[in-house]
Amino acid sequence: MKMIDKNEYDKLYSKMEKHHAVYQKWTRLEKRMPFFLKFIDEFKDKKVLELGCNAGLYGYHIAQTAKSYIGADQGDCYIAQANETKKFIKNPNVQFVQAKVKNLTKDIDKYTFDTLFCSFALYHFSNKGVARTKEYILPKCNTVVISTRTQKRKKWNSDNDYKFYKPKNVERWLRDSGFEVESHPCPLREGDKVPHFVITIGKRPGIKTIIIDEPTVSDKAMRVLDERLKKEAVLDDPMPNVAKALYGETPGAVVPPKKKVATRRRRNYTKKESGNSKDIDGVGQSTQEK
Ligand SMILES: C[S@@+](CC[C@H](N)C(=O)[O-])C[C@H]1O[C@@H](n2cnc3c(N)ncnc32)[C@H](O)[C@@H]1O
Repeated sequence: MKMIDKNEYDKLYSKMEKHHAVYQKWTRLEKRMPFFLKFIDEFKDKKVLELGCNAGLYGYHIAQTAKSYIGADQGDCYIAQANETKKFIKNPNVQFVQAKVKNLTKDIDKYTFDTLFCSFALYHFSNKGVARTKEYILPKCNTVVISTRTQKRKKWNSDNDYKFYKPKNVERWLRDSGFEVESHPCPLREGDKVPHFVITIGKRPGIKTIIIDEPTVSDKAMRVLDERLKKEAVLDDPMPNVAKALYGETPGAVVPPKKKVATRRRRNYTKKESGNSKDIDGVGQSTQEK
């Protein structure tokens, strides 16, 4: 499966200016899409729901072999973009819906799906959004594919308490919902201490897992890590250990240690902020990931 052609992407991009919002960036897609495409057969002949679909560029690929595809996103500008993308999609069973997850789930019976895809979005949902996804969406799914970053950004507005930027927490969440789970960290790029993102796949027991044509370096690391975690019973913050397992080195400070605050004034400021971590992280949704 080939990635979206750059010329086709440029044609789409030129149409997006009128929608006044950041379009899914080619540079990001270029880095992430090739690894994602290894898993594309998970969607073949499936009825797919994507949450946080943005401009629908993953949907573009998924819909090529899926039976049907629904992309949902809270941003009306993104849905306008996705509807432009839709013009390039040959599958007639494709729709894009503007809705927040917590509202989409109120009408969930309107939608038919058996497979969930969610990329770089789960950690943005509100607690209610996550809870409703678990209550209303996961029970309808045989397969769940979640692609998630592995580190907090320096500026971060994580909208729920689940810490889904830690892949182990995604795994735990899926296992709690009755799935068998495999995680596939993307290969490390030059200079990376930890994989940039991990694709976590949940399957109902007995549902066949697609065999990926070539194992990734990081798959091996994940197996080593899993064994270690079993021994250590540590579920928190596994990613630095992946790098350690891979390279046998101490990965260093992935999250820089907090600086000691010298002045009284600054100390007060920190105290005040610490009551509301969302404000500390505080970047708007639209500035992230795009
Ligand atoms: C970081 S972007 C990721 C976009 C795309 N999935 C990708 O991987 O390139 C997160 C997307 O999730 C959407 N989103 C965030 N919270 C949402 C919610 N509660 N309901 C629906 N969409 C949401 C945002 O509008 C945004 O398009």
